[in-house]
Order: sequence, then structure tokens, then C-alpha cells
Amino acid sequence: MKSKIKSIETKYNQQRREIFNGLKNLDRRSFLKVSAAAMGAAVASGLPASNSFCPVSVAQAADSSGSKASFRFAYISDSHLYEKKINDRFVRALLRAVEDINNLDPQPDFVFYGGDLAQLGQPKELDLGAQILKNVKAPLKMMVGEHDWYLDMGQKWRDLFGEPTYSWNYKGIHFVTLNSVVERDFWTERGMTPMERMMTVAGLDNGMQSPFSVGTPQRRWLQKDLADYSNDTPIIVFSHSPLYKLYKKWNFWTDDAKEVQAILNRFERVVVIHGHTHQLLTNRIGNIHFHGMLSTAWPWPYAPEGMPKLTIEMNRPDPFNPNDGCGNGQVNVHPDGLVDKIYNLWNRKPITVARDYTASWGSRSIPLKPNLASF
Ligand SMILES: [Fe+2]
Ligand SMILES: [Fe+2]
Repeated sequence: MKSKIKSIETKYNQQRREIFNGLKNLDRRSFLKVSAAAMGAAVASGLPASNSFCPVSVAQAADSSGSKASFRFAYISDSHLYEKKINDRFVRALLRAVEDINNLDPQPDFVFYGGDLAQLGQPKELDLGAQILKNVKAPLKMMVGEHDWYLDMGQKWRDLFGEPTYSWNYKGIHFVTLNSVVERDFWTERGMTPMERMMTVAGLDNGMQSPFSVGTPQRRWLQKDLADYSNDTPIIVFSHSPLYKLYKKWNFWTDDAKEVQAILNRFERVVVIHGHTHQLLTNRIGNIHFHGMLSTAWPWPYAPEGMPKLTIEMNRPDPFNPNDGCGNGQVNVHPDGLVDKIYNLWNRKPITVARDYTASWGSRSIPLKPNLASF
């Protein structure tokens, strides 16, 4: 006779199976069931339940026409999905981010995905990510990361999400999304297979790959895209790598950052929001304000040198909690185009880096320093 008492392992495997069966044909109704199951598994494993957001005050609209009203968007990044048979923690993390954001009331005006949806650019990884992200209630905008691209040079990603470089206007702001992870060809003369190329790029610090760049064709496109806009137009740029030179050995770096900044710096207010670094990161160069966002998968350590002065570093993540240092985020866009960035750290209180902090070069609205050493 079968025992009615299930071992923890059996329960876990059953829940895991339920989650993945549910993912097979994920429509919005089954998403709720699946994400509830994922959350159940997280609670059973001792992880804290879904974060409830702190209320965020949104500034008053500048004019009644609504063309320059304040608004909010949400941000998810760097989920690094493996195929589900290999790893499901990262899958659960992305489900959690989607559920967190779907629970926001009011809903954000859109949700931006900051790149590295896949771990090794596998079609199955990208399909799984697309399937989960189609349950985001608000309109979704996508950006590419190096982990999505270098197996097939972006073919699958483009099939799913379209071209990686684009711009649009919304409530008085001009938005631009770039592919900042363009690499010089290091693979052809070495006779590398697509997988070897992917693994090399994913390694970040193996010294064989080239530094990331935006590249000449996209810089030309950017120049042209911005040509019709006056210097007082607020500009928000999304890039995967930071559009400045932070730490080359880990490719926390964009090689032609200076050239890109030169295109942007005639504008009075520019905000660059990036993924890739998986940590709290804030910088300002001239009128360009840079904000690094969190990963849902894991936190990277801080670079050993070259950290921007404005960065308030996050607490050292707790190595016994796989969700610590991970999360998603929100961005409050003010009518002048500058933003409050809110880190929704899943294991800690949300941290806000206010617009006033970068606008005043860090002299006002200073966020609280972490009470633990950063890492
Ligand atoms: Fe990443
Ligand atoms: Fe990345």
C-alpha cells in the first residue's frame, strides 16, 4: 500500500511537474494557476512570499493635456532561463516578477524587459521566456542581451520579438532601445561552432571575446533618429550593458560609450536604463543619468575598481537565500524626463533612488546606505 505521507522531495517534484505542465500551454488563466503553484513551492522552500509593493507617489501631471504627464513603467531583466529540465529556479523567479507586476494597481503604462532572457540563446530557453512574458498584462517592450544573441546571431530572438533597435514617443518623452552587446567577430578565424561562440560570450571574463559596443551602423541610426528632436526633449535610452566604461575584464563596458554619449549629450536631460550588471548601480556623466537594474536570477558582485561615485551599493546578498539581491523594478518618469528608480529587492525593502539624487549630483535625497558590507 502506498503511504499517504509524501516526502518533501516527492512534494517538491510534484509541484515542479505541475508548474512545468502548466507552462506548456500558458494562457492568462492558467498563468495564475501556475504562478500560484510556483509561489507555493517558494513558500514551502522557506523563501518569502511575493512582495507587496510600497505605494509610490506619482508626481502631478504638468499639463492637463496629458502629453507631459508623469507615469510609471515596470522593469524586469536578466532572467537567464535554462531549459526547464535543467533549472527551474530561474523560471520561478521570472514567473514571480510577472506576477508582482501584474498585481500592481494601477498597472504600469508598460513593462520593459532588459535582456538576457535566455542563458545560452537556446530556442527552448527563448520560447519558454516568451511564453511566460506573454502573460504580462501591460504592453511589453523587449531588449536583447548577449545571452540571447550569440548562438544564432539573434535569429530566434528576432523571430519572437522583432528588431532589437527601435524608438517611440510616449507622453512627451522620446524612448530609444539599443542593442549594446555587439561584438567584433572573434569566432570565424578560430573556426568556432555557434555553441563555442555562445559559451565564450557568456563567459564574460575569458579574455577571448571582444568588448561590447553599439557599433557604427546603430550609432548612425541613433544620430538620425534623434535629429528631429530639440535639445530640451527628454530622452530615455535602454541599453543592456551600461553605456559607459565600468570594468572591462567583466564586460561591464561599452567600448564606443564615448561616441554614443557624444550623440546624446546635446540633450538637457537623458536617462539611460540598463541591465547586465545585476546590481544597484547609479552614475551620471554630464547630463546623462545612468541606472542599472536588478536581475531576477542572481546578483553579480561589484567591480573591484571604477565604481561610479553616485552608486549606493546594495547589501551583500545572503548566500543562503537564492533570491537575495534579485528582483525587479519600477521607474517613475517625471514630466521633465528624469526618473525615480525603485528597486524591488525580493528579500528586502524596496530601495528608491530619487530623481533629485542624480539631479543634485548626490547632494540631496541621498538613499539610505546599506547596513551590511556590499559585495
Ligand atoms: Fe545578465
Ligand atoms: Fe548580459
